[in-house]
Amino acid sequence: MIISPSLLSADFANLEAEMEWFNKSSADWLHIDVMDGVFVPNISFGFPVLKHVARICEKPLDVHLMIVQPEKFVNEVKALGTYLMNVHYEACPHLHRVIGQIHEAGMKAGVTLNPATPVSVLEDIVCDVDLVLLMSVNPGFGGQKFIPHTLEKVASLRRMLDRTGSKALIEVDGGVNIETGRQLKAAGADVLVAGNYIFSAPDPAKACEMLSGL
Ligand code: DX5
Ligand code: ZN
Repeated sequence: MIISPSLLSADFANLEAEMEWFNKSSADWLHIDVMDGVFVPNISFGFPVLKHVARICEKPLDVHLMIVQPEKFVNEVKALGTYLMNVHYEACPHLHRVIGQIHEAGMKAGVTLNPATPVSVLEDIVCDVDLVLLMSVNPGFGGQKFIPHTLEKVASLRRMLDRTGSKALIEVDGGVNIETGRQLKAAGADVLVAGNYIFSAPDPAKACEMLSGL
């Protein structure tokens, strides 16, 4: 299983120490939640902070933009050295154009769905994206409870990918722990984001390794 620990749950006063264990861990990507207080009811961190995180992080960056008009920031996200840029379906009336802009900038493109958005809306874009990120909580905060209906969404997305021949990965974000992680794997998920489960553990590297082993 590909694991993308979420920076949102890290100790922001001690990012260098957090990156020290993280760089040596089994984590595959670093998940970065950018919030604007408009698309979601919270604000996290912006590019001036992320520039320094990117400098000390040795793993690919998985950037999850929970902002309106994410297309305005393609260059800033690229400048971080980002591997994968995720934009919300609900924030992009011209999603096909935004996916093209992300690819032109040389990054992998992901589309994210809120819990209330059905996977059926992806039918005409799923062959153009590298990843679909399904939110298993309402975006904006770490440490929330996993929404069980996500399991059905993962399974139905897996069927859509098989039917359409899309090679997109399925990533799930919110309330992931070893139990929900196991269920998500069985449903067909490829990538798990985990904030609280990893960063609040007595041994974060160990918690990460447990998820990697799923
Ligand atoms: C929620 C964020 C998540 C969050 C997950 O809006 O998109 O990435 O950090 O945190 P946990 O794993 O604690 O639910
Ligand atoms: Zn996220």
